[in-house]
Amino acid sequence: MRWTSVSQRDSEAASSRGFILWFTGMSGAGKSTLSMAVRRRLESAHPVEVLDGDEIRTFLSKGLGFTKPDREENIRRIGYVARLLARHRVAVISAAISPYRESRNEVRRLATDAGIPFIEVYAQASLEALVQRDVKGLYKKALAGEIPHFTGISDPYEPPESPEITVRTDSETVDAGVDRILSALRARRLTTQR
Ligand code: ADX
Repeated sequence: MRWTSVSQRDSEAASSRGFILWFTGMSGAGKSTLSMAVRRRLESAHPVEVLDGDEIRTFLSKGLGFTKPDREENIRRIGYVARLLARHRVAVISAAISPYRESRNEVRRLATDAGIPFIEVYAQASLEALVQRDVKGLYKKALAGEIPHFTGISDPYEPPESPEITVRTDSETVDAGVDRILSALRARRLTTQR
């Protein structure tokens, strides 16, 4: 048997555990940007998968729309795949609007019951900032009444009540937000990455 130092064992223990980092926030609030930046910080030490809203809707949830039952179904599917991956030590990052508190809490409960750490990150920006930024041009259309059930305009967004982390993407830099996410993961001994 080889001798291993305590710090070596600690870092092995830390990187061998899967977890779910669950972003929530309105369209354009920065979930995808933060996810990709977090992935870059983690990937030298963990297998990482990002389950991005737009991509999931192209493959896993093709055919689902934006009514309440369809969004709930979308979130259930993402949660299910996230658990499958996380139990095989993958650091799973989900980046879907996931507008309903109850759906998010259900995903949290199922993960926690399976012994999988669940960390909710609220990507928060004011509606004014989102409308002004409007990267995809969707807010303009939604405000003109061209997109029914648009989150934050003609459909609800229920902010999390006690997310583990809140990133104010309308005032904080991406790097500052990512630093705080990484330090929250380190504090929970889920990574040793910086
Ligand atoms: S969720 O509500 O089911 O979690 P998801 O994250 O998968 O939503 O998809 C959101 C993306 O779909 C948005 O970023 C936007 O590009 C697009 N989209 C199209 N229609 C809508 C809509 N009615 N409300 C919100 N986003 C929409």
